[in-house]
Amino acid sequence: MALRICSLDDLKPGKALRVKVGDEAIAIVRTPSGDVKALNDKCSHGEISLSEGFIDDETIECWAHGAKFDLNTGKPLSLPAYESVATYEVLIENNDIFIELEA
Ligand code: FES
Repeated sequence: MALRICSLDDLKPGKALRVKVGDEAIAIVRTPSGDVKALNDKCSHGEISLSEGFIDDETIECWAHGAKFDLNTGKPLSLPAYESVATYEVLIENNDIFIELEA
């Protein structure tokens, strides 16, 4: 199931948006170079929203203790996080951002 998030123009490069889907919060991330990625919003190290973190083209860094996650795989690249966060497929259609969720 593809879920529309927002227009591409509503998410500026270098910004992230937190969206709630059922019980899950998902971070929709626009990298500085303009790609869009989606991953679980909760840092695997604590109750911190990754969408409030620091974004570059490949990673998002949790502001609390500095763990960096790969935006493509959700894998932690630095401690103190050692568990991955889930990632989601992103589709861009007619200037709208969708994420692909399991039905
Ligand atoms: S809560 Fe994210 S690194 Fe600690």
